[in-house]
Amino acid sequence: MPSIENLLRKISAELAPASGSSATQEAFIILETLLGLSYTELHAESQRPVEPAIVDKCNAIVGCRLSGEPLAYILGKVYFYSQYFTVTPDVLIPRPETEILVDIVLKTYKQACGMFLDIGTGSGIIAQCITNEKPGWRCMAVDKSLPALSVATRNRTGNRVALFGADIVSALKGLRQFDFIVSNPPYISRTEIQTLDRDVKDFEPHSALDGGIDGLDFYRIFASSLKPFIKPGGFLFCEIGFGQAEAIKEIFLRNNWGTFEIFNDFADIPRVIKVSPE
Ligand SMILES: C[S@@+](CC[C@H](N)C(=O)[O-])C[C@H]1O[C@@H](n2cnc3c(N)ncnc32)[C@H](O)[C@@H]1O
Repeated sequence: MPSIENLLRKISAELAPASGSSATQEAFIILETLLGLSYTELHAESQRPVEPAIVDKCNAIVGCRLSGEPLAYILGKVYFYSQYFTVTPDVLIPRPETEILVDIVLKTYKQACGMFLDIGTGSGIIAQCITNEKPGWRCMAVDKSLPALSVATRNRTGNRVALFGADIVSALKGLRQFDFIVSNPPYISRTEIQTLDRDVKDFEPHSALDGGIDGLDFYRIFASSLKPFIKPGGFLFCEIGFGQAEAIKEIFLRNNWGTFEIFNDFADIPRVIKVSPE
């Protein structure tokens, strides 16, 4: 029977063609999941032999990964904002950039109670992480994909996130005002979708990626229609794609929104906007 250390080495090497620089990290996640051990425990018990049944499961997972399937879909879970969430091929795999969006919302609002709208909730991670941190906040979360909403239902704890299946354009009619609105909308341009890595292009739902011809369709919809649904003093927070900040700023200015702030990620790439209606 191989030791944990030997198996980690073997899986990392086998995953390299599909996972590149993430191969070792993915090997750890696979063994953490199959053995129910933490990263530290895998190190501490590195000489422990691994049963053949677990080795077989590792081989099966590596086989799926080499076909291009993202590890999060194979394992059915992803780590986001310090906890695991369920994911299936019906939802976008949450990205680290989206943690910045959650952080900026949480830093902006200090009040104990409030109500917000999450547009394109997908797996529900944004709504869930914000309400986890703010026990007095409630959220209305909308997505047009019913299969995605069933994943969001599995990720929901408590009763402070209300999930609605609707296209955002039709859902806006009759909506109330919110303290703020948050969204990570589809923002990849049609041409760019064709150039994405196989893991993304062939496995993630295109309805979660496709932002129209230039990737900016949702920002145009938001800029032209969301103002009446944000209370005075509130904001719209959105994730944005690489290289889109200036074009999106222009869209909001043209629609007479007020202040427009841009937040960068650790690589200094603009990732989040915070816009006030006034
Ligand atoms: C980029 S994903 C974001 C998912 C999740 N909020 C996250 O950050 O990981 C965009 C989501 O918007 C949803 N969506 C796309 N078009 C929509 C529309 N017209 N109305 C409502 N939701 C829509 C998709 O189904 C998808 O779940």
